[in-house]
Amino acid sequence: MNQKSHWNIAYDKTDTTKLGWYEENCTPSLDLIKKCTLEKSDSILNVGAGATLLIDELIALDYKNLIANDISENALEKIKTRLGANTDKVKFIIDDLTNSVTLQHLEPVDLWHDRAVLHFFNTKNEQDAYFKLLNKLVKPKGHAIIATFNLNGALKCSGLPVHRYDEKMIAKRIGKDFDLIESFNYTFHNPSGDTRAYVYTLFKRK
Ligand SMILES: C[S@@+](CC[C@H](N)C(=O)[O-])C[C@H]1O[C@@H](n2cnc3c(N)ncnc32)[C@H](O)[C@@H]1O
Repeated sequence: MNQKSHWNIAYDKTDTTKLGWYEENCTPSLDLIKKCTLEKSDSILNVGAGATLLIDELIALDYKNLIANDISENALEKIKTRLGANTDKVKFIIDDLTNSVTLQHLEPVDLWHDRAVLHFFNTKNEQDAYFKLLNKLVKPKGHAIIATFNLNGALKCSGLPVHRYDEKMIAKRIGKDFDLIESFNYTFHNPSGDTRAYVYTLFKRK
């Protein structure tokens, strides 16, 4: 099965709140976003957004230039259904981060945000494509937040193998044009009560 079908089925067959990565409280991301001292009009690209409540939280905080990407249209539909009349406050882009068609033509953004997406890219080609796109799309002085399973993290998520990182590994891959501003390990409690070990990183472009 290809990636797109895998994720479409995952979002189709399971209630959003029961998904292993469902996060009721996006505090670690919001804390790092606060540190970026963005203007409300600055652009925030949420890659592999899934059905995340972070979008709702950012709308509530009055951010006006939100972009939600995912490979799965079913995932983004969940956000649209939930947002109702607020749907038009978000630009939705269905695209594959490792083989981008639409995203690569996007205007550069002030913030790239990824929670629980990069670790699904297991081949060098996929990882290279991801970081190439990130480098293309983050403005000078812009920020990138990347949260992945850390080196003590699970070996699989959603039945798929993952590639785990620490902050130094992410720093090496994102490249010398970005400074690591902050990183921390974070234990996420998923809806079934299991724990998942993440590393959160905040980078600023030179
Ligand atoms: C574990 S979920 C995390 C979703 C969301 N970031 C969150 O924190 O709730 C991983 C997400 O990455 C998306 N994804 C996987 N591969 C992708 C790709 N190649 N391009 C874009 N999105 C992808 C999946 O559809 C899924 O929504």
